[in-house]
Amino acid sequence: MAREAPVREIRYRPVMTDEMIDAATRILRSGKYIRSFPLEDSEGKRFEDEFCAYLGAPHAVNVSSGTAALHIALLAVGVRPGDEVITVPNTFSSVADVIILCRAKPVLVDVEPDTYNMNVSLVEAAITPRTKAILPVHMNGHAVDMDPLMEIARRHELKVVEDVCHAAGAAYKGKRLGTIGDAGCFSFVQNKCISVGGEGGMLVTADTRVWELAMMLSNHGRGRRWFDGAKAYHVYRAQQIETVGFNYRQNEVLSAIGRIQLRYLDQWNARRREHAALYAALLSQFRHDLRLPTTRPYATHSMLRYVVQTPQRDALRAHLEAHGVHAMVEYGTPIHLDHAYQPYCGAPEGTFPVTERLAQTILTLPCYQTLEAEDIRYTVGVIRQFYRA
Ligand SMILES: Cc1ncc(COP(=O)(O)O)c(C=O)c1O
Repeated sequence: MAREAPVREIRYRPVMTDEMIDAATRILRSGKYIRSFPLEDSEGKRFEDEFCAYLGAPHAVNVSSGTAALHIALLAVGVRPGDEVITVPNTFSSVADVIILCRAKPVLVDVEPDTYNMNVSLVEAAITPRTKAILPVHMNGHAVDMDPLMEIARRHELKVVEDVCHAAGAAYKGKRLGTIGDAGCFSFVQNKCISVGGEGGMLVTADTRVWELAMMLSNHGRGRRWFDGAKAYHVYRAQQIETVGFNYRQNEVLSAIGRIQLRYLDQWNARRREHAALYAALLSQFRHDLRLPTTRPYATHSMLRYVVQTPQRDALRAHLEAHGVHAMVEYGTPIHLDHAYQPYCGAPEGTFPVTERLAQTILTLPCYQTLEAEDIRYTVGVIRQFYRA
């Protein structure tokens, strides 16, 4: 029998308004796409200033991806070959990649079953004389319990690099995430809290030395005299390479789009929280085995991802897909079980039981800011049908 056609298609759609397209076009027409001096007047600099003002952060470096931000943050806080960095196994691969690319070792600790975040009570036992930094990931937009984590870090003289890629605009006890550790790293890849029309990232820090180093590392290792802009360029024509660096600069076209998206950040986070509240209300009206997201009292959630848990995950996902609802599994393979990481932080099954159970049971339901309440109602209707059957 032929399968019924889906009546609705519910999936992520990027936001690209006429104002954003006009801003991008203006840069394209200007012919100035590259930001060569980090502190010169540019779209990138303005995006940094506006992002700092939004977060209440003293310094920012606008870069080409969240991965780039994490990589230079680790280097700038002093992670060196042979060091250890404590992080979690239930995260995006690039978190492990950047630690390994610093020739350091990812040391994993398990997560909490309700927030999906680093279980801070396990951190101290993972510290060794080689530990240099802790890299907490604010998963799905929910804050890690930062007070006890920072207390441990300070007592052991460790640096903290926050992965805020899911959580731009989210907060811990009223403080914006990314401003609590030594550095905070954001991703603006399409489908994050805000985007730039492609790939992008930002590093924020209160530490002037970390900022200067991160600036240099993102811009071919060019040093102080390049920071000071065009005047310095005429005086010093040498390359002024002060450290081995990368080209992690952001394109001016994308920075111009990012500046406009930033103005919508609070509104979009609030809209996703409304969707989450609607899911909770509608899902309370019938019997199911879903475990719904929780928000601890200390957290203001970005609700970038509305993640539920069910032992029937794969069947429910297939049912949703068959009815036009795109639901994702993020992330299905824990870092310690993924083959690429075996030489660095591989561990046998059973080592991180919470992460491993979550990898089998989690499902991300659509909760995008572009959806209407009707889309959430439709999705819950499809879920209801599944449990009725
Ligand atoms: C938790 C987390 N960290 C880091 C990254 C890397 O960000 P990007 O894709 O911008 O390099 C992502 C991206 O999806 C992520 O989800």
